[in-house]
Amino acid sequence: MKLVFATNNQHKLKEVQAMLTNFEIVSLAAINCFDDIPETANTLEGNAILKADYITKKFGLNCFADDTGLEVEALNNKPGVYSARYAGESNNANANMDKLLNELQDKKNRKAQFRTAIALNIDGKQFIFEGICKGQILTAKQGDSGFGYDPIFMPNGFNNSFAEMSMTQKGAISHRGKAIEKLVTFLNEQSW
Ligand code: IMP
Repeated sequence: MKLVFATNNQHKLKEVQAMLTNFEIVSLAAINCFDDIPETANTLEGNAILKADYITKKFGLNCFADDTGLEVEALNNKPGVYSARYAGESNNANANMDKLLNELQDKKNRKAQFRTAIALNIDGKQFIFEGICKGQILTAKQGDSGFGYDPIFMPNGFNNSFAEMSMTQKGAISHRGKAIEKLVTFLNEQSW
């Protein structure tokens, strides 16, 4: 089945394509959508819905969209829905990580979780899925794979950061991997 994944992020697209091999996952570019889709909600779920609805309304296509945030316990779950632009509008991963490391400098509690919300629009209905990956914020950056906050996030049960893992390793335990797994299970249970 063909499904639009409402993203322009090639890392995410590849991660998801690797997990959803029996579906034809197409990006926004593949449907010639180069719009700046609004992400103005104040929850992850709200933003996922905004994005999926935008594509379904404008292009009439089945679509899913995700929104992810890093929720840090000692910072009252910040940066959360504002993770991309935590250090300013430019979505600069290094600046975001530096800001977070700075804010956690004196904190003993390094607990954090990545949380992904997915909104799926299919055949006129909407479904929401959630995936969580719990871990710790490291005191310095480690590794150079992945994207975003990967170099400073160490998932529970591991001794390395997300940025020191292969895409397949990360996908097997990640927030997005878990949310996608729920989406896949759901899609496989139905006859579309
Ligand atoms: P998005 O909603 O998936 O675009 O994620 C918002 C922001 O959260 C991104 O710009 C990244 O800073 C961060 N983020 C999302 N997913 C990940 C991940 O898997 N690893 C590290 N950072 C991530």
